Amino acid sequence: MSDRKILVTSALPYANGPIHLGHLVEYIQTDIWVRFQKQRGNTCYFVCADDTHGTPIMLRADREGITPEQLIAQVGQEHLADFTEFGVAFDNYHSTHSEENRSYSSLIYKRLRDAGHISSRNITQAFDPVKNMFLSDRFIKGDCPKCGASDQYGDGCEACGTTYAPSELKNAVSAISGAKPISKDSVHYFFDLANFTEMLNAWTKEGHLQSEVRNKLAEWLEGGLQQWDISRDAPYFGFEIPDAPGKYFYVWLDAPIGYMASFKNLCDKQGTDFDEYWAKDSTTELYHFIGKDIIYFHALFWPAMLSGANFRTPSAIYAHGFLTVNGEKMSKSRGTFITARTYLDHLNPEYLRYYFAAKLSASVDDIDLNFDDFSQRVNSDLVGKVVNIASRCSGFIAKRFDNHLSEKCSEPALYQEFINANELIANFYETREFGKAMREIMALADKANQYIDEKKPWLIAKQEGNEAELHDVCSMGLNLFSLLATYLKPVIPVLAEQAELFLNISTQAWPAAQNPLLNHSINDFKPLMTRVEADKILAIVEASKENLEKTASPLKAKVFEPIADTIEFEDFAKLDLRIAKIIKAEHIEGSDKLLQLTVDIGDETRNILAGIKSAYAPEDLEGKLTLVIANLAPRKMRFGCSEGMVLAAGPGGKDIWILSPEAGAVAGLRVK
Ligand code: 2FM
Ligand code: ZN
Repeated sequence: MSDRKILVTSALPYANGPIHLGHLVEYIQTDIWVRFQKQRGNTCYFVCADDTHGTPIMLRADREGITPEQLIAQVGQEHLADFTEFGVAFDNYHSTHSEENRSYSSLIYKRLRDAGHISSRNITQAFDPVKNMFLSDRFIKGDCPKCGASDQYGDGCEACGTTYAPSELKNAVSAISGAKPISKDSVHYFFDLANFTEMLNAWTKEGHLQSEVRNKLAEWLEGGLQQWDISRDAPYFGFEIPDAPGKYFYVWLDAPIGYMASFKNLCDKQGTDFDEYWAKDSTTELYHFIGKDIIYFHALFWPAMLSGANFRTPSAIYAHGFLTVNGEKMSKSRGTFITARTYLDHLNPEYLRYYFAAKLSASVDDIDLNFDDFSQRVNSDLVGKVVNIASRCSGFIAKRFDNHLSEKCSEPALYQEFINANELIANFYETREFGKAMREIMALADKANQYIDEKKPWLIAKQEGNEAELHDVCSMGLNLFSLLATYLKPVIPVLAEQAELFLNISTQAWPAAQNPLLNHSINDFKPLMTRVEADKILAIVEASKENLEKTASPLKAKVFEPIADTIEFEDFAKLDLRIAKIIKAEHIEGSDKLLQLTVDIGDETRNILAGIKSAYAPEDLEGKLTLVIANLAPRKMRFGCSEGMVLAAGPGGKDIWILSPEAGAVAGLRVK
């Protein structure tokens, strides 16, 4: 088999939020492709990293009272845990806030500068006089100049769709401090993209791009390429520009260089030759899987930067579409903004890997996750067709033949037909037509089931003297199952490995030429996959609605809404803080986060829903004293009405502590 040398990347996720199912389309797509290449015997490295720089990350760390380094370390770990549990097997997962990335970002910048591709000039921008920082459009809010809608961002109105310059907003305020922005000048550094017009004109037509993407780029190129602003002023979480103190590389400058940095980190760990993959004359292959929203960065800036800095350019950019859920944009209020973790809490990740594979093609079309279709496909294809073959045959092989397969291949032509399909299936995987690959494999699964239906081993088993036939038919069935599991291995690696274990065979390479297992001992069959249960999907949707407050606040509400740095004493004095005795604490059916507490606040008992389930068991709480806000207006929540709030502190998960007065205090006392 061929031995290609391939380096593959997925886009680097921002380190300011959790991985969700929308992200997973890409990571699963890339992982399937990489696993396929490896199974074919190619040398293939899959690298990725967290995209850690920029203002939102800096501000979020600030709000959480931690350093950006602490924030990105924590989020990086969560991301990697999510990917790992979804079977996304990176060869290296790194960070853009790394020495390797600092070094390559500086190198590329210096090479571009020395070749005359960087220029600088003064620009005027909105500036927050309280926070002492420049404000990008997204950090300015005000009233729309067209329709008057309030609370609109600096770049466009979500109510009427008008786009405008931030200076046109009425009553503009900084979304960070609430202060009125002033205009201020500062020197910015620019990458002269227009110097690469000719190079990009040629490169975008040389077969590195999907046709839809190529057409889009032709439009952009025709419109003329603009200078790209690659600098940001302090304070900014990123890398300082080597010859420009107080100026930082814009996050999008160092993000794609993060691909190189992650690979360099891998090379240093295992002694691989970095230059073989990145030198200008490299003969290896380099592929970037990305979403269609970031084509501009990958198909214009990135090849231009690489070429200007004397590195190789990508072999191809593979863009995919967005994920919709039940035909609509993912929505927090509908419970369809589903994080990787919420999914993992309820369902087998291989269901989703298979479903995405079945829906994916090489185009940039959006794909839809329809819950009914999802259950139906997984149940009918994986459980009903593929796994069913093994369960139909294994019982007889175990009971009648001591888990030993027959010496004879009873249908060599059928077996050969399954082997011959390998080229077509491989071609579909190679060209990212995973949906077509899945259909081809399921057509084979149908054939295997038909074979068993025709032979009717359950009837043969009842006839005397037909042991040999029963043995042959069931062994044949298991041999066909083995090939199906091998073809599906890039998509559902865990199931495929369990099948290898059951069949007592080594890790399976791509079955280009293979012989059936004859006269071979296998292991006891254990159910390989269960059906998708409808209530689990409901639970995911419910839990995602519940996540709403949690995920909305750190990013949107906390960063973008003006929050005063201090409150007045009068504000504090409005709180009726009381010592309360927890009389009863109970789980709430269907809620992962909340406990229902009945508390005695002295003059009455209250029902309070508290999001402390991750840290406390109900039995630990009953009889305890705690502190509540007694005059919070009752809030209707999905699981009932909450009449107050228990005070608790901590970063979340197990680390939440309710505030407890010392023993001896009594319920009802007001906090002075
Ligand atoms: O769009 C995004 O989520 C970016 N964090 C992707 C960066 S990809 C690469 F260039 F680093
Ligand atoms: Zn408007």
